[in-house]
Amino acid sequence: MVNKEIKIKGAVLMNVLIVGANGQIGQHLVDVLKEEGKHTPIAFVRKEEQVKAFEDKGVEARLGDLEDTVDSIKERMTDIDAVVFTAGSGGSTGYDKTLLIDLDGAVKTVEATKASGIDRFVMVSAFQADDRDKWNADMKPYFVAKHFADMWLMDSSLTYTIIRPGMLENEESIGKVLASDSMTDPDTYSIPRVDVAKVIAESLENKATYKKAFDLVTGKDEIEEALNKL
Ligand SMILES: NC(=O)c1ccc[n+]([C@@H]2O[C@H](COP(=O)([O-])OP(=O)(O)OC[C@H]3O[C@@H](n4cnc5c(N)ncnc54)[C@H](OP(=O)(O)O)[C@@H]3O)[C@@H](O)[C@H]2O)c1
Repeated sequence: MVNKEIKIKGAVLMNVLIVGANGQIGQHLVDVLKEEGKHTPIAFVRKEEQVKAFEDKGVEARLGDLEDTVDSIKERMTDIDAVVFTAGSGGSTGYDKTLLIDLDGAVKTVEATKASGIDRFVMVSAFQADDRDKWNADMKPYFVAKHFADMWLMDSSLTYTIIRPGMLENEESIGKVLASDSMTDPDTYSIPRVDVAKVIAESLENKATYKKAFDLVTGKDEIEEALNKL
């Protein structure tokens, strides 16, 4: 069902494994990639019924769990050209899951990607996870997990992009963003999830985002324009 990487007139068509595809950003990303019709989204999900739901809408889905081994995650990476990590333990679980999913799940996904010989990795991190001084006291364990998962990825040999979005909202796309490696006093600290998905999709092949980590909120620039300024 998946395509091997095909190059047509300079464009690279990739099979993109979306870890956390059943999540809110993940579902937007599947839809954005399907609409664009260029890269093929492949969902990494943890429940049989989620596999079926994606297959019903014509999207290949692979059953896996971030609490399983690196080898098991790697087995889901056959014929994959790029990996997006947008999974998360969510706000209703304890710090054990923050460690197991947001930190170790992300690290294991990086390790599985490397072991599979895949080069491209896009991480959904969190706003200012790079700067301890900015971490909200109530959410410190979450920021610690995000921070060290990002560090692990940066220390890998992968061609990474680390996107650190502000507060996620479920409003409709605004389509204008501000992206910066160190953001001070933006007009807003939020961004619609669908716009994060659009930034991920644009980042996949935008070389200005390679080996970069940046904060992301709603802003004034078109997405491509904002990323080209990085
Ligand atoms: N909330 C914010 O304001 C905010 C701000 C900045 C960054 N972020 C980050 O943005 C990312 C995406 O956010 P979102 O709102 O789209 O999250 P979400 O809706 O909670 O989606 C997270 C996904 O991760 C999956 N997941 C959890 N444990 C898993 C496991 N063991 N194996 C495989 N998948 C697993 C969940 O699966 P199920 O569907 O089966 O539950 C879910 O689909 C997360 O990394 C989050 O930390 C959030």
